[in-house]
Amino acid sequence: MRTSVIAGNWKCHTRLQSAMALAAGLRERIGGIDGLEKVVCPPFVYLAAVGEALRGSSISLGSQDVHWQDDVAATGEVGPRMLAELAEYVIIGHSERRHQFGETDEMVNRKVKAALAAGLKPLMCVGEVLQERQAGLTEEVLVRQARGGLTGVEMPDGFIIAYEPVWAIGTGTPATDADAANAIAVIRREVASMSGFAKAETVRILYGGSVTPENIAEFMSRSDIDGALVGGASLKVDAFSVIVEEAARVKAGAS
Ligand code: PGA
Repeated sequence: MRTSVIAGNWKCHTRLQSAMALAAGLRERIGGIDGLEKVVCPPFVYLAAVGEALRGSSISLGSQDVHWQDDVAATGEVGPRMLAELAEYVIIGHSERRHQFGETDEMVNRKVKAALAAGLKPLMCVGEVLQERQAGLTEEVLVRQARGGLTGVEMPDGFIIAYEPVWAIGTGTPATDADAANAIAVIRREVASMSGFAKAETVRILYGGSVTPENIAEFMSRSDIDGALVGGASLKVDAFSVIVEEAARVKAGAS
């Protein structure tokens, strides 16, 4: 049985005060829900404060990115070992990093390796853009990104990958649960070809892209979808709490 994960990516949103209020509200509302991993990923600058607000709760802290080296001249970057002092999880290769900041599969690969070596739990993102989808290239892109990101990686059991079709992120147009499940099957097959079937069966593969309180149950009812990476809806206590509650309810019903 794979444990589901619901992760909130706050992106470049919140201020110190609203980040603290969000953390306190979530602690109160979903701190008591078990049976799945709950993660919030605030901006770097609020990690310490939000970590303090969540200390001793069942909600874990993640960051939105990481550099692949510590103790180097890399102005503006945050290294894996310094991050591991504060956070448990780290999003790597989000499409906004790939498309706005030119991150390549090779950089994603370095980051995944460095994060694992520092004891962080990566949440590696893959996903096709609209033109690739329309050209029938979805499978090819997913295979390339999965292989590129995971080459030479010793994956621990339960490693997390997020399938995030870029056209579904922040658009209000999610993938259908069937499309998401198909893409996830492609990713799992690729992981199996690299690391063996038994390892691939332990890997958690999440869906991300316009997940809401209204549609989360559809995704979670698919046995192959192990959770969600949530952007916009993770910024409101009520919306994110309902997503976590629904996810826990559906998975508990399925087990
Ligand atoms: P969204 O973002 O839920 O706002 O579509 C998802 C993500 O980018 O992780």
